[in-house]
Amino acid sequence: MTDQDLIEYAMEVRENSYSPYSRFAVAAALLTGDGKVFTGVNVENASYGLTICAERVAVGTAVAAGVRTFQAIAVVVKGGGSPCGACRQVLNEFSPHLRILLADEEGRLVRATTLDELLPEAFGPQSL
Ligand code: THU
Repeated sequence: MTDQDLIEYAMEVRENSYSPYSRFAVAAALLTGDGKVFTGVNVENASYGLTICAERVAVGTAVAAGVRTFQAIAVVVKGGGSPCGACRQVLNEFSPHLRILLADEEGRLVRATTLDELLPEAFGPQSL
């Protein structure tokens, strides 16, 4: 699985984003330790604060399928923006060293980074 392959998985579901309020469609594709891919999109709500980000939908879908080991996540947003703080924290629960691919709306890789870099000195299971 190349980085671009993972980005394409996210590109394929981005049209399913439910984002009538922000009009900001986000898609994520999470690559598991054994090479499977789970995707997610942001799901907004008329009660705005209940919105769920694409990354957390992908994590929840994978965990529901019994998977908790992740290698990488591709996130596709306009301009290739970075995951929000809440999503960084949720990703850290399972994969503190996760590789993170940030791609723009055309599927172009804008930045490759890691969760260690985006969430230094994280609070996680080892902190309890
Ligand atoms: N959003 C995500 O899906 N992931 C992020 O990491 C940042 C923000 C969504 C939430 C909301 O539906 C829209 O983007 C605008 O904030």
